[in-house]
Amino acid sequence: MHTNEKLVLGSYTQTDMEPFKRLRRTRMTEALRSMVRETELSKNDFIYPLFVVERENYKKEISSMPGVYQMSIDLIVRECVEVKKLGIPAVILFGIPREKDEVGSGAYDELGVIQQATRAIKKEVPELVVITDVCLCEYTSHGHCGIVRGNEIVNDESIELLAKEALTHAQAGADMIAPSDMFDGRVKAIRTILDANGFTSIPIMSYAAKYASGFYGPFREAAESTPHFGDRRSHQMDPANSNEAIREVEQDIIEGADIVMVKPATPYLDIIRRVKDTFGLPTAAYNVSGEYSMVKAAAQLGWIDGERVMMEMLTGIKRAGADMILTYFAKEASQYLDTHKL
Ligand code: PBG
Repeated sequence: MHTNEKLVLGSYTQTDMEPFKRLRRTRMTEALRSMVRETELSKNDFIYPLFVVERENYKKEISSMPGVYQMSIDLIVRECVEVKKLGIPAVILFGIPREKDEVGSGAYDELGVIQQATRAIKKEVPELVVITDVCLCEYTSHGHCGIVRGNEIVNDESIELLAKEALTHAQAGADMIAPSDMFDGRVKAIRTILDANGFTSIPIMSYAAKYASGFYGPFREAAESTPHFGDRRSHQMDPANSNEAIREVEQDIIEGADIVMVKPATPYLDIIRRVKDTFGLPTAAYNVSGEYSMVKAAAQLGWIDGERVMMEMLTGIKRAGADMILTYFAKEASQYLDTHKL
């Protein structure tokens, strides 16, 4: 007798009519695959990083990051027009000042490179969301993210300067502030100074779980921010730690972070998932310079299909729980999404 009595909906019991489940059925055509697809990348997910230099009519490719440039303010504005036209909602700005000093004065100068660039972009492309990276490493002569006393990168003095930097960014018209230093208490310091000056509606995207990573190598060429001595291990996280990432993120949320970031992205997909599941806050992932450069280099050698790996990488980051991705692939991936619709 033929019976279906072993079939229990929801518990996946096999029946004698179906000796094994044919999971391939929904993979047979692109149309079917598109119907069951669980993760869909969108241009709205992307934030495009830009490197601004204090010069005119200047554009120089970063040798370790093909397709990524340092640009002067005039050219950055044109780039932003294109980014907006492509449908990418936001950029994040990194500044390279004309001069650096021990205390990173260029970072909190009202006429500094980011302050000028922000004003120029907001005037020309007001709908584009301008996020500013807040840190001192691009502005200090020693390349550290804060004030150095003896062998120590000091915390409390540094966060006061970071707060000043954030305020000048907001005054220049920045839509969102993104502190990337990883000092303790900086989100609170920034929230406090922004609120005290009437910028209560400017959100903070904190680099909340930022690891001391070898993947930042190419960025330091782009931002000219390699530390002249020592490293960043006294403030950025140990790559081996996961529980500590939860404590870092929790602390930033308590202090006022609106969006929390995990960085880098692909080696830390487990952290992205954990942060998203634990807090449910808008979660960003930074697909950093080294992740980009590895794909570009291998593709140039013909070892991988660069475009395919790019889309797979970004989809993986989103699948892990990221709501937004800071990525040097933003323009390329947007063009890909435009041309590969069903
Ligand atoms: C610090 C900062 C860094 C990156 C973003 N903000 C570098 C660092 O911490 O040394 C790295 C981004 C990347 O590698 O793409 N201002």
